[in-house]
Amino acid sequence: MVEPFFADPALASWYDALSPTHERADFAFYLPRLMSARSVLDVGCGTGSLLHLAREAGHQGRLCGLDPGAGMLEQARRRPELDIEWILGDLRSVSWEREFDFVVMTGHAFQVLLGDDELRAALAAVRAALTDGGQFGFETRDPLARAWESWTTETPVEVAAGAEASMRMTRQVRSVDGEIVVFTSTFDVPGESDPRHSDSTLRFLGADRLDMFLAEAGLAVDERYGDWAGGPPGEGSPEIITVARRTPA
Ligand SMILES: C[S@@+](CC[C@H](N)C(=O)[O-])C[C@H]1O[C@@H](n2cnc3c(N)ncnc32)[C@H](O)[C@@H]1O
Repeated sequence: MVEPFFADPALASWYDALSPTHERADFAFYLPRLMSARSVLDVGCGTGSLLHLAREAGHQGRLCGLDPGAGMLEQARRRPELDIEWILGDLRSVSWEREFDFVVMTGHAFQVLLGDDELRAALAAVRAALTDGGQFGFETRDPLARAWESWTTETPVEVAAGAEASMRMTRQVRSVDGEIVVFTSTFDVPGESDPRHSDSTLRFLGADRLDMFLAEAGLAVDERYGDWAGGPPGEGSPEIITVARRTPA
């Protein structure tokens, strides 16, 4: 089940204010790759900002966003032109065969794939959706950098959006069990007396195991970075950024 932050329109409407599109180094990394692909699938597209950017930058081909969060997709559909496909669902609910030159998962959406079976099924669906030689770009936080250790917030983060009063957000890490981190985000939304809560569970997969799952799925790593500036992976780098290619069967 998708977490409340992504399902609930009132919370999802704050997402882009939390991570403003023009400040996102991940979007700067992925956008040129989208622009050079004829057809693009964004899995866990959220508010659709990356696909919006691609269209606004002049992408002429097929752009498709898939997300199980109804609140997030409501934001994605705010773009008035009907030139991007938005699909409510996840990789279990679709069956594309060789339709996309580039499949992307941004904002660490890859980390919502929790169990081995779920991960295998998702990678198989990505591979099937890719054209021959098509690429899959995504990132996952490197577990060696232990990002969750700084996630519990003592002071609320204030998020301002336009003329509206600020929303206040706090985060509490609940448990760390092997690769699985559970945390709760609490939101004080302007005009609401009770806070809203959203529980999240993310998987932190190390590079070796990740590469095992990719190889098993028929995806070969073309590029690997440890940060958005293109630094090397490992050695305390925060990310495992991967561009993998569909290999012949
Ligand atoms: C942190 S947001 C990232 C959104 C967007 N990709 C971005 O970079 O802004 C994670 C997204 O993953 C979506 N999601 C949750 N479970 C998913 C699943 N099983 N498959 C695909 N997306 C999922 C959520 O609804 C949410 O929109």
